[in-house]
Amino acid sequence: MTHQFDLTTQTATRIPMMPDAQTVTEVTHWTDHLFSFRLMRPQSFRFRSGEFVMIGLLGENGKPLLRAYSIASPSWDDELEFYSIKVPDGALTSRLQHIQPGDQIILRPKPVGTLVLDALLPGRRVWFLATGTGIAPFASLMRDPETYEKFESVVMMHTCRSQTELEYGRKLVEGLIDDPLIGEMVAGKLHYYPTTTREESARMGRITDNLENGKVFADLGIPAMNRETDRAMICGSLAFNTDVKQVLERFGLREGANSEPLEYVVEKAFVGDGV
Ligand code: FAD
Ligand code: A2P
Repeated sequence: MTHQFDLTTQTATRIPMMPDAQTVTEVTHWTDHLFSFRLMRPQSFRFRSGEFVMIGLLGENGKPLLRAYSIASPSWDDELEFYSIKVPDGALTSRLQHIQPGDQIILRPKPVGTLVLDALLPGRRVWFLATGTGIAPFASLMRDPETYEKFESVVMMHTCRSQTELEYGRKLVEGLIDDPLIGEMVAGKLHYYPTTTREESARMGRITDNLENGKVFADLGIPAMNRETDRAMICGSLAFNTDVKQVLERFGLREGANSEPLEYVVEKAFVGDGV
């Protein structure tokens, strides 16, 4: 009798403390400052590939501590995947990095964002341009068949300081090519162009430089960007986004939005470069 009573009170107090709670199903640590995790997806949770959502944990004051996160899984997936930084003293990620399967995370219900296919005019080739965790929205879009239905060719440029930081994206692309469902659709269409800037690797250099000096076009054997055929999405630090925008504008592309689709769209991968 006592036992039953205890269980009831525990449940009753836990529910209001964890609004929108979802269960963690998987956690993968890629480096000492990068990890990914998967959550059970509520049936009612709908989003467009490329969008972000607020997720978090309960703070010490009992209030939700939430941050914006791009959803890295595609909209057809039964689960939700996220790819995260571990900021050593970060309010959320200093705790989030310790989650385990079975733990609960707060998932707010309203995904939004500009990095969606509908925000671009129709075109032949789409460029996904990312640094660091900015690859997350493209991890979603690269796994969405709609991307390959809308575009003949997809170029994923991802740049990090070192090779281990590229590993999440590299494994994801390898898995896509081997995937029995989407592999055939991706083959020959997806050009993956990872580069490092502070460690020797097969391909090096900043995205801005590799676009401006034409190296990426030469390496992939593809024509240079132009307004008629090319569309692009950018996701990185504020400085990266600003510099890439200038490069794209020099190729003639113009910034659009959900309400006014044009040739490219931008989203910050995080806030806080001191600006
Ligand atoms: P915070 O107090 O939020 O950040 C502390 C400092 O850490 C920041 O000032 C910044 O300098 C640095 N920082 C924060 N996030 C990053 C990052 N991702 N990469 C490099 N430096 C960072 N973060 C993710 O890890 N994955 C995502 O998919 C993601 N999507 C986002 C989408 C949007 C639209 C925005 C605005 C932010 C996104 N972020 C993402 C950042 C995220 O919201 C948090 O800032 C991050 O989880 C750290 O939280 P925190 O409370 O530990 O530290
Ligand atoms: P670099 O090593 O030359 O600074 P960070 O780890 O500082 O967030 O940077 C992630 C990656 O983004 C690094 O490879 C870095 O190159 C690159 N990067 C940073 N700022 C810019 C920028 N303004 N334009 C292009 N690439 C950038």
